[in-house]
Amino acid sequence: MIELPTTPAPATPLAVETANLVRRFQDFVAVDNLNLKVRRGSFFGFLGPNGAGKSTTIKMLTGLLGPTSGQILVLGRDLSLEPLEVKRRIGVVPEDLNLFERLTGAEMLAFTGRMYGLKKAEIAQRAPELLELMELAAEPKKLIVEYSHGMKKKLALACALIHRPEILFLDEPFEGVDAIASRTLKDLLSRLTARGLTVFLTSHVLEIVERLCTDIAIIAQGKLLAAGSLAELRQGIQLADNGEQTGLAQHTGPISLEEYFIHIVGGERSVGEAEVLQWLT
Ligand SMILES: Nc1ncnc2c1ncn2[C@@H]1O[C@H](COP(=O)(O)OP(=O)(O)OP(=O)(O)O)[C@@H](O)[C@H]1O
Ligand SMILES: [Mg+2]
Repeated sequence: MIELPTTPAPATPLAVETANLVRRFQDFVAVDNLNLKVRRGSFFGFLGPNGAGKSTTIKMLTGLLGPTSGQILVLGRDLSLEPLEVKRRIGVVPEDLNLFERLTGAEMLAFTGRMYGLKKAEIAQRAPELLELMELAAEPKKLIVEYSHGMKKKLALACALIHRPEILFLDEPFEGVDAIASRTLKDLLSRLTARGLTVFLTSHVLEIVERLCTDIAIIAQGKLLAAGSLAELRQGIQLADNGEQTGLAQHTGPISLEEYFIHIVGGERSVGEAEVLQWLT
């Protein structure tokens, strides 16, 4: 393993910053002029409806997909200029997991550890502990191809953690994961953010996001619609709705994240029930 020289990280309070980030697929604009700021140490929930551009953004922020235009700074470094420096400091569980299916879990972790330049002794200590934590230690001979969906997800998470990243990018970490593993994951992520790790996650499980995330951004059709703490988002809607008799303005008590999300994304569009699906119902 070649030891690459490391340069000291620039002092910035931001874990991630994007400037006018755009990704097109032919004529289609999947991410549209995105300006994001993610504070270091925050638990950042990146929300949006299906097809909003969340996974495309995560892939660009982690160097898995090149942007069409715009700039990405991760821990103060320009991703296009210092991709290796950035990649050694981040962990990612992408949408499609990217595991080598003919390996066992332990082999995959050892491979990942070596890729990040960890010493053998470090891998020997960390890999079994991670497998234990993810409840993947019981069948050491099992190949990843034989894992269930949730098991693969937990292994991908273990791989993303083995080099102690400063930022963890998780695309739908709770999808397909059982209630016990989900609890373990929530506890682990809370502990890690308390120690300074930044978590950047996408999730459709808004109850979990509401409970865990310190900061939230919402995108739809590739455009940023809202960003801030949940309290700030609620405040914004009260101002926006001031005087208007909308459903939310009449709301008594705090607005839930789900209500806010549906309001801001325009999901209150009602399908004319009488006309649609008559054949089915
Ligand atoms: N490789 C690709 N080629 C063409 N279009 C793509 C490609 N990848 C994504 N898109 C399109 O970009 C848009 C955003 O997709 P993306 O996967 O980022 O959405 P998402 O917010 O992660 O949605 P979901 O919540 O369903 O995971 C979608 O319309 C999708 O069809
Ligand atoms: Mg996605």
